[in-house]
Amino acid sequence: MADPATGLARVYRGHLFHVAGSPDQADAAEHLASLPDGALVVEADGVIGWVGPYTKMPERFAALDVVEAGFILPGFVGTHVHFPQTFATDSYGGGQLLEWLEHCIYPSEARLSDEKFALATARAFTARRARVGTTAAMVFGSAFPHAQDALFSESREAGLRLVSGRGVQTNGPPSAAPLITSEADALRLVAEEIDRWHAVDTHDAATALLQVAVVPRFSLSVTPRTLAGLGELYESVRGDGVYFHSHMNENNRPGDGEIDAVRALYRGESYLDTYDGKFLSRSAIGGPSLLGPRSILAHAVHCQDRELARMAETGTSIAHCPTSQLFLGSGTMPWRRTVASGVTVSIGSDVGAGDEWLIARVLNDCYKVHLSEPGSDSVALHPADLLFAATLAGARALDMEQRFGNLDTGKDADFLLIDPEQWEPLALRLEHGTRVDDEARSAVQTLFTLLMGLREPAITGVYVRGRRVAAPQA
Ligand code: GUN
Ligand code: ZN
Repeated sequence: MADPATGLARVYRGHLFHVAGSPDQADAAEHLASLPDGALVVEADGVIGWVGPYTKMPERFAALDVVEAGFILPGFVGTHVHFPQTFATDSYGGGQLLEWLEHCIYPSEARLSDEKFALATARAFTARRARVGTTAAMVFGSAFPHAQDALFSESREAGLRLVSGRGVQTNGPPSAAPLITSEADALRLVAEEIDRWHAVDTHDAATALLQVAVVPRFSLSVTPRTLAGLGELYESVRGDGVYFHSHMNENNRPGDGEIDAVRALYRGESYLDTYDGKFLSRSAIGGPSLLGPRSILAHAVHCQDRELARMAETGTSIAHCPTSQLFLGSGTMPWRRTVASGVTVSIGSDVGAGDEWLIARVLNDCYKVHLSEPGSDSVALHPADLLFAATLAGARALDMEQRFGNLDTGKDADFLLIDPEQWEPLALRLEHGTRVDDEARSAVQTLFTLLMGLREPAITGVYVRGRRVAAPQA
């Protein structure tokens, strides 16, 4: 328990890395801060009071307890992960996205109709998030309101940041039947979830840890009428800070893949148009747009230039999910072209198509797939690019960059303590890896080792707003 006099106030001392300030992705490396003997001062209210070299810490903090750590990083921000797929990672679908959904995922998600199973899933999901240090997340929800209640309750108990909404389906194959509702019920259930959970913890979206999103599964799981209804609903709650989340441009198998199926169903000019109010034939306007600064679209692997430009223009962000894209054969999001468009590219595990919970494991795939892009598209992402995508870009995608995403003074203290000794392969690499003499370049090498080699056991402390996150017991 925190001492009532000092509250959460502590000094956390260790090798601290973060991307400071508010740079664009292209400038992340210039904003990389490495403090080998750094101090992160957390004030009584959970806000960062000071950050810098330990030896230069102001006298007024000298009386605070000091917690020693190996490394200190900002909490990971994951912008796409499926709660009802907690136990469905690595499911064998015998094909790509649409086969996998139909044969594995719809049946798995239907099991959450059972209240006991839904609660166990919410506990396991929240525990995993807590252990891998995903302090803030956009979470793709279950169709079942009781399961969403369990998810919000467990997240509140643990002290994690959560944006989530029930997955809306009004259309789909027979195996999706238990997840499908009428259009009227879909709208009613989304509105009820917003009333019940949006900013319920502080009654102010500017400070809340719990927030709600409007989440049609993807354009194929709904109809133009559902999109019209959701657009009108979203229009009425946008000002309250409600989010929008879905999938887009993930699978382009010719003929019967996701993108061709969307084209066949909507007969529009682009996939993005279906979320932009232009869901009638030939992209005619049929209702309000769902895009905006609190809208995140997962994947965006196969985008037209105009789709990227429209996302950038509206402030809509991408949740890049390379681990999932490998698993489902979805291809590789072109990194240079996507980032050059100006759209914010954040990181999602996409569990269960992604089989890694730890965002650093997704960064590991991110590094490999973009280095392997063909010809001049190949890019060796700087470790600061990776750290930026996994932290500050996620906070930006969630429209909460003012509150977290790095360790700047004045932000909420969302951070991780890492003890490499808890994962021997990492400890050995850090101890014996070859380093250049130059201090700044050697720090970059160390950050790369840390991000590529991190595993769950080495994360020994997870904090949100200065408070230690408590993983629920299964
Ligand atoms: N598209 C529609 N639903 C899903 C899902 O559950 N996972 C992924 N990766 N893509 C989807
Ligand atoms: Zn997904």
